[in-house]
Amino acid sequence: MSDHLLSTRGLGRDGGVALLDIAEDMADTQQRQVKKLPTLRGTTVVNLFFEDSTRTRISFEAAAKRLSADVITFSAKGSSVSKGESLQDTAQTLQAMGADGIVLRHPASGAAEVLASSGWTRAAVVNAGDGTHEHPTQALLDAYTIRKRLHGDASRGRDLDGVSVVIVGDVLHSRVARSNVWLLTALGASVRLVAPPTLLPGAIGGWPVESGIDLDAALATAPDVVMMLRVQRERMTEAYFPSSREYAALYGLSADRAARLPESSLVMHPGPMNRGLEIAGEVADSARSTVLEQVENGVAVRMAVLYDVLAGRRGAA
Ligand code: NCD
Repeated sequence: MSDHLLSTRGLGRDGGVALLDIAEDMADTQQRQVKKLPTLRGTTVVNLFFEDSTRTRISFEAAAKRLSADVITFSAKGSSVSKGESLQDTAQTLQAMGADGIVLRHPASGAAEVLASSGWTRAAVVNAGDGTHEHPTQALLDAYTIRKRLHGDASRGRDLDGVSVVIVGDVLHSRVARSNVWLLTALGASVRLVAPPTLLPGAIGGWPVESGIDLDAALATAPDVVMMLRVQRERMTEAYFPSSREYAALYGLSADRAARLPESSLVMHPGPMNRGLEIAGEVADSARSTVLEQVENGVAVRMAVLYDVLAGRRGAA
């Protein structure tokens, strides 16, 4: 039982495996004809999205509904936030309406931590992406997807010991990369980051990873997993690479490059994809791609997380 899920840092091996195992149980219930569980009946979950999102928002909504929570989805566009209302006022309003859980996506790094420690609300806070900082449920669904592909029905209780993962692309702006670095290494995987020099953050000296700028050299190590990151143009304030054509040539996962990987290597992408830029369409649609499995597994993983932070609270059945 946790109060919040703000980060994967500090989750540790056992914390990570425990959440993935709950997600396995949740996924089993989703094979039944009646998918809805009574677990969170009487609780209210608010999806508070200050940034655009398709899959994360829908996935949290589906997860909360399948646990029988009442769900309010709030996106900043069309709300008083666009009139300048602050996170504080919004959170206090939601508190007054009786929110038990808040799933927050916000453009500011650290926003989820601020909300959880602010006193503006007593709700459990789940970080659904804060700026370039963290996106813990994405990393959990990525780890779940890797474990499932490698171990199938024998996944429960296992970590990712010995699994090699190469994470490629716009690491600088990627909260997905950060959350994955902490979680995958805690689970025993080895992680190598590959990016143009301008898109490798300065801080990685202190991260438990290897890094480099040569994609072909990294792929030649025959990694178990290649995780491609979206080029996040909306967060780019300057030119980080000369042209899209050059980026695709040096850092795109083309069909040629994918063909040099062992047949068993997985290709992942959190979505949304820039097809033809960081990943070729035919690679994204190939049998080794887990893109749609990641989306599917996201619902079970978010059910597990909501259960973990909310089941012990007042109102839950
Ligand atoms: C990611 C995000 O929003 O951080 N997407 C997602 O949650 N599926 C990655 C991205 O936007 O590139």
